[in-house]
Amino acid sequence: MENDKLPKHVAFIIDGNGRWAQKRGFPRSYGHKKGTQTLKKIVLYAKKLGIKVISIFAFSTENWKRPKDEVEYLFKLFKEAAQDILNKNKFDGICYRHMGDKNGLPKDFCELVVELEEKTKNNSDFIVNVGINYGGRDELLRAVNKILRSGKQQVSQEEFSGFLDTHGLCDPELIIRTSGEQRISNFMLYQMAYSEFYFPKVHWPDFNEKQFDKALENFTQRHRKFGGLTEDK
Ligand code: IPE
Ligand code: IPE
Ligand code: MG
Repeated sequence: MENDKLPKHVAFIIDGNGRWAQKRGFPRSYGHKKGTQTLKKIVLYAKKLGIKVISIFAFSTENWKRPKDEVEYLFKLFKEAAQDILNKNKFDGICYRHMGDKNGLPKDFCELVVELEEKTKNNSDFIVNVGINYGGRDELLRAVNKILRSGKQQVSQEEFSGFLDTHGLCDPELIIRTSGEQRISNFMLYQMAYSEFYFPKVHWPDFNEKQFDKALENFTQRHRKFGGLTEDK
């Protein structure tokens, strides 16, 4: 695959952990555990391919509706993952960013997130942007409220992007949602204006490098026109 045709920013709506586990007679939590392993594998592969930014939708502002034990287990996994990266104290040029409302995060987890962001903020090889307690509408409203507090009367599109959780990042060119569901579920509503979508049937724990290659190959064959008649931006 030609490197210059690869998207710079790929976003994942990781879906199907629960179904993957239930189909095999396991509790949903086992699917989430497996899903975490898939995530590590795919992030490393994206870095190897030379993709610049990976966004991951891991927990939505609506996922709090799930049973308490599932929510607690998910945050246990998130905490372990963050702690693990911090313990190694070796970040391999990766910048970790959080997307979502930090105010709603459990305090101990939030502290790890802030530490991870702080320690890796100057890394620029590769950005891993993780949505936890993230909702597109919530992000837009927080941005509007930040603008109101700043006293500005008007902002440009460029300035507005600077108030979003994704400030400084390019928009995702490709959004992949596993598990066959063809919906957005409140993800990156502003940033996806011209994103390409890919909906593989495979549940997230079974998503692998080969399927990622297929998605990227498919992306490189699409004609993106941005409202014009040619592929020029
Ligand atoms: C994705 O898998 C992970 C999260 C949303 C936290 P799901 O937990 O949504 O799995 P399904 O869709 O129920 O199979
Ligand atoms: C979307 O998945 C949110 C995340 C991947 C974190 P959901 O499983 O929560 O979405 P719905 O409920 O099927 O729309
Ligand atoms: Mg789901």
